[in-house]
Amino acid sequence: MIHCDGLVKIYKTDDLEVVALQGLDLHVEAGELMAIIGNSGSGKSTLLNMLGGLDRPSAGTLLVDEKDLLKFAERDLVKYKRETVGFVWQNNARNLIPYLTALENVELPILLKGRRKRLRALELLDAVGLSHRIKNRLSELSGGEQQRVAIAIALANEPKLLLADEPTGSLDTRMSDQILDLFRELNRKIGITVVIVTHDPLLARKVDRVVAIRDGKTSSEIIRRQSYAEELAELERGGLFKHEESHVEYAVIDKAGRLQIPANYLQADEFKEKNKVRVEMEEGRIILYPPEE
Ligand SMILES: Nc1ncnc2c1ncn2[C@@H]1O[C@H](COP(=O)(O)OP(=O)(O)O)[C@@H](O)[C@H]1O
Ligand SMILES: [Mg+2]
Repeated sequence: MIHCDGLVKIYKTDDLEVVALQGLDLHVEAGELMAIIGNSGSGKSTLLNMLGGLDRPSAGTLLVDEKDLLKFAERDLVKYKRETVGFVWQNNARNLIPYLTALENVELPILLKGRRKRLRALELLDAVGLSHRIKNRLSELSGGEQQRVAIAIALANEPKLLLADEPTGSLDTRMSDQILDLFRELNRKIGITVVIVTHDPLLARKVDRVVAIRDGKTSSEIIRRQSYAEELAELERGGLFKHEESHVEYAVIDKAGRLQIPANYLQADEFKEKNKVRVEMEEGRIILYPPEE
């Protein structure tokens, strides 16, 4: 679904350039539900905006659903935004109109007309678990319910890819969990590919694959040994929650062989303030030694 190689995004303002993405690689399979995690300013929103066709990359390769986004004309971009991707933001004011009801909000972006439009909107509100709130104005709904309306809208034109930028950023833990459950259910039921950006490591642990971004590059990938769904099923059968060993973290090696060493390892006395290491191959392992004194 997503094939992103060496992606670069440079923002130019009057007298300064910000390199927000510095040759980022990311691959996402169709039907995957995954998360992107990283500190504030690491380039998560920039990446999501590129994926959503809201902004254009400066260089690199970006294919989504086999479409080459770097070759898009303005017209292709409009069609892409309308048909291929759905977007959910943290601040759902970007999706929603406060004085309309939930139903009216969802009807707005639907490309159908008349009765079919109404039926589709009802179906979408049902899919996000809001059938009982359709007549309420947005201002009468809780934060979590508003986010559900935003998700229904993002699904309105049957996109293949759902992008969510910090969708639970303004919700409490319980509501965040429920929204994540909804993404998981939609992913399972309609097979939509879901990419969630978050800075919350706990939330990220609840999906099967997490890609970490550091300074505009993918730095590591955290993969579940057992899928979250399987783990939940096991918990329900009375199993124990194996928190630590449920994930494996891999450092990502780019095409040129570059790798980011986890920041906390570099804090060890042997490596502190060193700018080089000795690299050796021993019995199928690559080992990094501190430089000789
Ligand atoms: N429109 C913009 N113009 C200039 N710089 C920007 C713009 N958007 C983001 N940036 C910069 O790019 C970097 C990455 O930002 P962003 O993608 O928003 O990070 P994140 O979502 O991970 O917090 C930051 O240094 C940010 O200041
Ligand atoms: Mg952001």
